Amino acid sequence: MSRQGEPTGNGRARAAMGSANRLKLGLFGANCSSGRAVTIVPERWSGSWPDCVRLARMADRAGIEFMLPIGRWKGYGGTTDYQGETLETVTWACGLLARTERLTVFGTVHAPLIAPLVAAKQFVTADHIGEGRFGLNLVCGWNEGEFEMFGAALRDHEARYAYAQEWLDIVKLAWSPREDFDFEGRFFRLKGVRAKPKPHGGTRPLIMNAGASATGQSFAIRNCDALFSNVSLGISFEETVRHVEKVKALARQCGREIDVYTVGVVTCRATAREAADYYRHSIVEHADWGAVDNILAMKGITPQTHAPEEFRRIRDHQANGMGGLPLVGDPDMVAGELARLAAAGLTGIAVSFVNYLDELPYFCTEVLPRLARSGLREEPGPM
Ligand SMILES: Cc1cc2nc3c(=O)[nH]c(=O)nc-3n(C[C@H](O)[C@H](O)[C@H](O)COP(=O)(O)O)c2cc1C
Repeated sequence: MSRQGEPTGNGRARAAMGSANRLKLGLFGANCSSGRAVTIVPERWSGSWPDCVRLARMADRAGIEFMLPIGRWKGYGGTTDYQGETLETVTWACGLLARTERLTVFGTVHAPLIAPLVAAKQFVTADHIGEGRFGLNLVCGWNEGEFEMFGAALRDHEARYAYAQEWLDIVKLAWSPREDFDFEGRFFRLKGVRAKPKPHGGTRPLIMNAGASATGQSFAIRNCDALFSNVSLGISFEETVRHVEKVKALARQCGREIDVYTVGVVTCRATAREAADYYRHSIVEHADWGAVDNILAMKGITPQTHAPEEFRRIRDHQANGMGGLPLVGDPDMVAGELARLAAAGLTGIAVSFVNYLDELPYFCTEVLPRLARSGLREEPGPM
């Protein structure tokens, strides 16, 4: 029964994402123009459907485990209108699942912007298309401008997660084998709910969340199979180990298991020098600073609210892959950094590139075999 247990069978059934690899790898943000790189360089990511399909098929062949899209409704302006073109994530997932064989593809869904039963049904449809490979990234939202486009109120932070709890309880009930049910909560009153078919194969889709606050993380611990946490620059190995252990221990106290993932931004070239040069060129010298400042302003971070030094630090951090961990270097360095994350207890990482299609082949050819030699992954398939 919902939070009080799993109504839909063992939630761990799909946690391995179809591979025995100790370190899972995914691609983050490919459904958006410019992806995760707030840059004006002309080779920046298109986010177009043909490019997404080519990327998903390439990743599928190489044994990459998952693709994680961003639920974004309104671009951030600047020179490029950063993330101004975004493909809706559940329909995007449906298309990619139909064109791939092994990948788990997530939909990233703002709980407050869609009725839970419509969402539950969409997830089941996607899951049938992918024969059990659909995953849900549940987000509560934070961007007021996006909510205004829907005529929806952005609730206060605690109420957002209380609402998401009821929303997810309903989704899980709709997926469960039980017959008609009623639901009485603070936000929802539903009568005689009937939802068929159920998710594929008698298990339910993977559920992840990326809450950073205590409330967001405890939501993930109570409800999700995976928590995505930013392990950014400046967070030590020991802090990462402690974070992963704490999240897992708290989950065990609720009789659950959870995996912890992180996000990274890869710039991998034949030499450390080439990688550093390209990183500086694309992310520092050609950042879309107008977009970066707009993102920060939406979070209340401006030169008026922060001291100059602190503002500059946060600004650089945001420009740098939206705060993801920079993995910049030659293949040995990038593989070494990924191995370090695995050693810290992380189950996997979702990465982005300035241009995913141009850069993924080199990453797969050079970095994946090194991870295989470290025992973290199987040898990649032919691209
Ligand atoms: C890997 C990752 C993916 C996320 N994806 C989205 C997203 O697509 N859309 C969105 O509005 N927020 C997204 N977020 C924001 C989180 O859902 C969350 O709101 C944020 O980390 C702040 O945590 P809090 O809600 O606990 O305060 C993402 C965060 C991370 C780290």
